[in-house]
Amino acid sequence: MKVLLLPGSRRQDSINVRLLLAVAHRLEQHGIEADLVTAEQLDAPIYDGDCEAQVGVPDSIKQLNQRMLDASGIIVASPEYNGFFSPLLKNTLDWMSRSQDDQPGTLVFREKAALVLAASPGPMAAARALPHIRTQLSNLGCNVYRAQLGIGRAVSVLSEQGDVLDEKIDQQLTTLIADFATFAKKLV
Ligand SMILES: Cc1cc2nc3c(=O)[nH]c(=O)nc-3n(C[C@H](O)[C@H](O)[C@H](O)COP(=O)(O)O)c2cc1C
Repeated sequence: MKVLLLPGSRRQDSINVRLLLAVAHRLEQHGIEADLVTAEQLDAPIYDGDCEAQVGVPDSIKQLNQRMLDASGIIVASPEYNGFFSPLLKNTLDWMSRSQDDQPGTLVFREKAALVLAASPGPMAAARALPHIRTQLSNLGCNVYRAQLGIGRAVSVLSEQGDVLDEKIDQQLTTLIADFATFAKKLV
């Protein structure tokens, strides 16, 4: 079983990528392969209908859709920008939702397990962005897991290697991933 890990940032040293590395370590403990999307794979232009009509869906998006098709679920970790999730994440999901080879793009998401995470350097833990990500994934057809996690002051909480340096948050994330793994396995 495989889960796609989609960051909402392609910034070098992104704290959201650090969070997904922490998630990957934990998924593997439940026998779930973590398919982490890298910054270089998030190179689609800003969506517009003219671009799509002229050149079609970008190859990088087609590859992401194939990976999503092969996965049993998706875990997203996004920065919060002015109370919303990142434009990179919105753009990636919008492109992924477009039809490809006469199939609606949303087919790859349908009924699959989804988990929503966010990391912020501030104390508010990106709490305003989380519900918007839930709505987006739900609109695409995912079964969004009821619990979610925002990590505040994440620069000091998450190491570059994806170690969680705060004992309480470490435990919260471990429990959340264990619960999500159970949820996702039931949906397969
Ligand atoms: C335009 C802009 C708006 C931001 N708004 C918020 C915000 O509303 N809440 C917050 O916690 N951080 C906000 N930040 C800070 C981001 O959380 C920070 O840049 C974060 O490190 C980005 O995540 P990354 O490390 O994964 O790239 C904002 C940053 C930018 C550039």
